[in-house]
Amino acid sequence: MSETEHGAEQAFGVYIHWPFCLSKCPYCDFNSHVRREPVDEQRFLRAFQKEIVSTSERVRNRTVSTIFFGGGTPSLMQPATIAGVLNSIARQWRVAPDAEITLETNPTSVEATRFRGYRAAGVNRVSLGVQALDDRVLAELGRTHSAREALDAVGIARSIFGRYSFDLIYARPNQEPKAWAAELRTALDEAGEHLSLYQLTIEPDTPFAALHAAGKLRLPDEDTARALYDTTQEVCGAQGLPAYEISNHARPGGECRHNLVYWRAQEYAGIGPGAHGRLDINGERHATATEKRPETWLNRVESDGHGLVTDDILISEERGDEYLLMGLRLAEGIDAVRYAAIAGRSIDPSRIAMLREHGLIETTPEGRLKVTLPGFPVLDAVVADLAA
Ligand SMILES: C[S@@+](CC[C@H](N)C(=O)[O-])C[C@H]1O[C@@H](n2cnc3c(N)ncnc32)[C@H](O)[C@@H]1O
Ligand code: SF4
Repeated sequence: MSETEHGAEQAFGVYIHWPFCLSKCPYCDFNSHVRREPVDEQRFLRAFQKEIVSTSERVRNRTVSTIFFGGGTPSLMQPATIAGVLNSIARQWRVAPDAEITLETNPTSVEATRFRGYRAAGVNRVSLGVQALDDRVLAELGRTHSAREALDAVGIARSIFGRYSFDLIYARPNQEPKAWAAELRTALDEAGEHLSLYQLTIEPDTPFAALHAAGKLRLPDEDTARALYDTTQEVCGAQGLPAYEISNHARPGGECRHNLVYWRAQEYAGIGPGAHGRLDINGERHATATEKRPETWLNRVESDGHGLVTDDILISEERGDEYLLMGLRLAEGIDAVRYAAIAGRSIDPSRIAMLREHGLIETTPEGRLKVTLPGFPVLDAVVADLAA
């Protein structure tokens, strides 16, 4: 087992899902809902606490290494609610003194006013959804903030939190590589140790999917999309933030430790509506998921103590596939020995040889298998080949 994976082998993450937003962005299919009435945070806090207790009864004696508040828009939560959740986690498990505690935030001025409160509650990293640095594009994406407001929020985050990251979406309608390079350079001037750069995905049943079907979204063609991807790698690499995952860039040491838990197929608990978890219980790997609809989840937790709707034990093959699917997103790749131990079989050497010949994967002297930069744009096909 490699040093990096071995060192983090004991990692245990806790994910908390806040499923509400002030408005729904037309590209987004996350489990996020808009409510006309104010959300009863006290009631949600009590339900989070109950689910933390019921989960901790299944996986005791863990040391929490990372906590992540995702959404939806967790920056709509009051700092006291965040503090209540963190206290509850600390009552059930030991929390490592250097635990990474991230909160996803929308970069509006209203939300930035709560940043100090989050810091006081224990949050030590924020991830801001900036999405674009062009006001016209932000309006098309249905965002409620301007580029200036977003960069101001980034500046406030920088002054309050030790660590911060922000997200941009690229491969947007009508986007050209030259303009993207300029936007990305401006972003890098404001970036700390981490940036998430997502290619726009047209998710089914979203307003963007309907616009796309009606021919009203001019998405970059394959060559332009490839040029946008190459531009991303060049510009970020030159600034010392190479991709450590297909959509995530960091200075060495600045990686998001919570997301590494997922990509390294380690253990994590999912708390809140529609949260997923992977729990190791009596030598078996459980894939868990909770009820997605917020109010239904609340009612379930209040009556049953948890909102679980799925609790499947993964067989070796499923575990192996998951390790490939997640691990090959990482620049560090996967440990072939660990894969064999998980999956109960080795990867077909002839498939490895074929993909290596095409320059899509490489093996390191330590026996790690990793996707090359030219391989990342066709990652799905590479994974499907290796898993077959
Ligand atoms: C849960 S959302 C973000 C949190 C926060 N609510 C926000 O929007 O600022 C996580 C990130 O996923 C990305 N994202 C969401 N939908 C996407 C899509 N269809 N294509 C590409 N990126 C997407 C956005 O960059 C977003 O910031
Ligand atoms: S992108 Fe963020 S703010 Fe927009 S709907 Fe999705 S979760 Fe909510």
